[in-house]
Amino acid sequence: MAAVKACNILITGANRGLGLETVKQLLENSCQKHIFATCRDPDGPKSEALRELARKHPSVITIIRLDVDDPCSIKESAKKVGSLLGNNGLNLLVNNAAIVARGTIHTSRVEDMKNTFNTNVIGPLLIIREYLQYLQTAAKASGTPGMSCNKAAVINISSVAGSMTRKPSNHIQSTVLPYSMSKAGFNTLTVLAAEELKADEILCMALHPGWVKTELGGEKEWSASGSGLGFDSTRDIISLGVAIFVCHYCCVTICSEACGCDTDWCDFSLLHTWCCYIHPLLL
Ligand SMILES: NC(=O)c1ccc[n+]([C@@H]2O[C@H](COP(=O)([O-])OP(=O)(O)OC[C@H]3O[C@@H](n4cnc5c(N)ncnc54)[C@H](OP(=O)(O)O)[C@@H]3O)[C@@H](O)[C@H]2O)c1
Repeated sequence: MAAVKACNILITGANRGLGLETVKQLLENSCQKHIFATCRDPDGPKSEALRELARKHPSVITIIRLDVDDPCSIKESAKKVGSLLGNNGLNLLVNNAAIVARGTIHTSRVEDMKNTFNTNVIGPLLIIREYLQYLQTAAKASGTPGMSCNKAAVINISSVAGSMTRKPSNHIQSTVLPYSMSKAGFNTLTVLAAEELKADEILCMALHPGWVKTELGGEKEWSASGSGLGFDSTRDIISLGVAIFVCHYCCVTICSEACGCDTDWCDFSLLHTWCCYIHPLLL
């Protein structure tokens, strides 16, 4: 993983899948940091691997209870983290936790649509709201102009399944309609938050990890034609994610100019940057 110099980092859904792997890889990085690894059931069996990691790195990892579906839990977590942060604030907030629900126009259940929207869109919005004060503190404390994930940033782990522009060429959305619709909402939240948080010099962006074999990702890639990104290891994805992260700010302007997009954000600018510029270079 490229060096992430952010000091205070919070990740949701850190007990398994991509969230847990992100915590592991951040640990490999030599920079001084503190990781608030949040999950909804810190004492439960699904958090054993995270607890083990925290036991090995007690001065770096603090496990915090945060149920993305529960506004009270979000508020309580923010109070707890706030009391531990000190004057430097929170540099990096990673909205990673999500759920998937399958279904098509014909088969999607109302309950699944409500649940995915709640966990994948409303929860992250409330998290950004509750943690904003700490991100603002970090942005001010950095003393450097501009935006960076080492200064103050919100990273939303999204999916191509929520992309508008890729819909005709990518049929995965049609089989995970509730998830797709929620990720489209999540992308919109990212764009609007980026706009609103710009004044505070807080970077806000979405990241599509590609298919990864996790509980959510499943044993096989959803789309027969593939997402087009072609990665199957969490490690590759995270390294790539950080690389894109770094490239993002340099590339997005070039991308929008060269592609004739109206704005820096297109529909899902990071994905756009990736598809137009970075991925072709690796083929
Ligand atoms: N894997 C892929 O192929 C893929 C592709 C595109 C995008 N993504 C995105 O990557 C992110 C991580 O996915 P993943 O593949 O790592 O999924 P995963 O292995 O299923 O892990 C999901 C995580 O989210 C947590 N979570 C779910 N609901 C929660 C809630 N209400 N409160 C707190 N935590 C909650 C889970 O905690 P519990 O253990 O408590 O359930 C778990 O830690 C997601 O945003 C997903 O949309 C993944």
